[in-house]
Amino acid sequence: MSTHEPRHPLETLNPKIRARFPMIDRDSQGNPRVYLNTGAGSLTVDTASEAAFDAQRRLNPMPGVVAAGEAETAGLHERVRSLAADFLNAASGREISFHPSATAALFNLAFALRDVLRPDDNLVVTDLDHMANISPWEAVWGHEHGLDVRRARVTSEGTLDVSHLLSLVDARTGLLAMTSASNGTGSLVPLRETIAAVREKAPRCLVAVDAVHHAPHGVIDVREADCDFLVFSGYKVFGPMQSVLWGKAALLEKLRPYRVETNKNDPPWKFEMGMLNNTSLAALGAGLEYLLWLAELAAGPAAAFPDRASKFRSAMTAIAEYETGLTCRVLEGFRKLDAARFRCFGISDPSRAGERVPTFAFDVAGLGATETKKRLWEDSGVQIADGNHYSAAVVRHLGRPEGICRASFAHYDNPGTVDRFLEVLGRLTKK
Ligand SMILES: Cc1ncc(COP(=O)(O)O)c(C=O)c1O
Repeated sequence: MSTHEPRHPLETLNPKIRARFPMIDRDSQGNPRVYLNTGAGSLTVDTASEAAFDAQRRLNPMPGVVAAGEAETAGLHERVRSLAADFLNAASGREISFHPSATAALFNLAFALRDVLRPDDNLVVTDLDHMANISPWEAVWGHEHGLDVRRARVTSEGTLDVSHLLSLVDARTGLLAMTSASNGTGSLVPLRETIAAVREKAPRCLVAVDAVHHAPHGVIDVREADCDFLVFSGYKVFGPMQSVLWGKAALLEKLRPYRVETNKNDPPWKFEMGMLNNTSLAALGAGLEYLLWLAELAAGPAAAFPDRASKFRSAMTAIAEYETGLTCRVLEGFRKLDAARFRCFGISDPSRAGERVPTFAFDVAGLGATETKKRLWEDSGVQIADGNHYSAAVVRHLGRPEGICRASFAHYDNPGTVDRFLEVLGRLTKK
């Protein structure tokens, strides 16, 4: 999409969208800022923080069926499981368990496979992944059980080397752990095609997808992808520090997580350790409901949706299309910067904007990542991230083990925030 094409509906609606995010243009001290750090956590939508406050004040911690506060708590759990299931186009809320973080969910999942993986199995993980979807597999199955854990490479362009991944898979591959979008370079992984090819070679292989970075940017459809497990985190989807693990019902039945004796031994409860965090669940529900609001806003008052999962799909399709336009604008802007002073890692051809999300890893020559971040913040109030972003192998592949700058956009951004970023980057790369 070029900047001359007609405006996407979300661009016209951008003021209404921004109005839903109280901290969109000021920092915690009330000073003006441009937040380009959604990759480390999105802004929180107004209703998510309100719902958290309300739940903390009114609800009982323990779900129950008699008193009003406990019944409401039980209703909240059911409602948010069902919302999360529809967000992922999963079969039902029974396939959804809640965890304090995606990292905790993946460690929990790794332990729970103890009756499923076999002593002569191997596992495949990818260098494109955040360590949250590498370390649990290496620690539990590599170090503890001595299974062979293989690592698929990243291409020089910061995308997953799918051919290398497929060369590592064989009939004994018991598990593939793979991201759907890199939080380092922003590249998307062709999930459906990759999983289908893996299943041809390894019919028994289970596939665990990390959708934490992808979740705010596009459609996540577990049935279409044909994965077995998937995680995402609420704080990347306009809500709280609260994570979701989805798994196919029949598989969840077979797993054996660590569990206190008195906890129900059925999914999803058997995966949940201790009381659920009602405050966070209320906020997670509100964050997801915001997307339903967005679907209606984007489609207009006459639109009808056959069901809630389609409504989520409609919102996330609109977001992906709109963000592709923003990505194009960023990449076109990068081309105008002094190539001797600026380097973008990852897919940088604007015509391939649809193969990535608007998360940009870059370098300013002569300045380290932390110094670049500091200058952007102090000179212009533009907030980006520095470091390895827990994507340790990605930064190694890119030849920047000490860390890279990352600017990450979301659908609440607009051509104005893109241009502001490009303008300050232009000034910095001229110095
Ligand atoms: C791709 C990806 N996976 C996993 C995580 C870890 O998520 P959590 O903090 O919920 O454990 C992150 C966090 O940045 C991420 O970007």
